[in-house]
Amino acid sequence: MHTFQKVTSDMIDINPFEKISKDWMLVTAGNEEKANTMTASWGGLGTMWGKDVAYVVIRESRFTKEFIDREGKFSLSFPSEKYRKHMKFLGTVSGRNENKIEEAGIDINYHEGVPFIDQGDVIMICRVMSATQIKPEDFVDKDIDNTWYKDKDYHTMYIAEVTDILAR
Ligand SMILES: Cc1cc2nc3c(=O)[nH]c(=O)nc-3n(C[C@H](O)[C@H](O)[C@H](O)COP(=O)(O)O)c2cc1C
Repeated sequence: MHTFQKVTSDMIDINPFEKISKDWMLVTAGNEEKANTMTASWGGLGTMWGKDVAYVVIRESRFTKEFIDREGKFSLSFPSEKYRKHMKFLGTVSGRNENKIEEAGIDINYHEGVPFIDQGDVIMICRVMSATQIKPEDFVDKDIDNTWYKDKDYHTMYIAEVTDILAR
């Protein structure tokens, strides 16, 4: 396992638009017995309720969602380009059906009981502050429903305090 140290937000150089939508991140949740991870490219970083926060949107069908709801904590891991193929795999296969973490050849590490992916360069440890189910009637832009939710697999939006940032 790699050694990580706690850093402050001014010590990391992250453009959230690039880092999340183009490079992608791994959302990981669970406990020391069982954890799951999935690739995500939608979300953001910002400020809410006086805290540094991350928001992620997770569809109902995702196995990872069960772990986030159960634990109220998750992590965001940002691996380098070298792990692109791993991320494609972790974003296609569900941990509900197979042991995808082992198959992908990546490792789970822990920070104060919260699982994260050891291959990340930067890790954000997150505490869920709110979980809002996105409903079709919420869309002001009515095209969103048809474009993104033909299968009715709606997202829940989690806004979470970034309690710790770790870097290698
Ligand atoms: C590039 C990429 C980005 C993704 N972004 C998201 C996302 O933001 N939210 C989401 O719910 N699923 C997203 N997915 C899909 C999940 O990663 C995928 O369904 C995964 O297999 C779920 O795994 P799980 O069932 O083990 O949780 C994305 C997939 C890829 C490949």
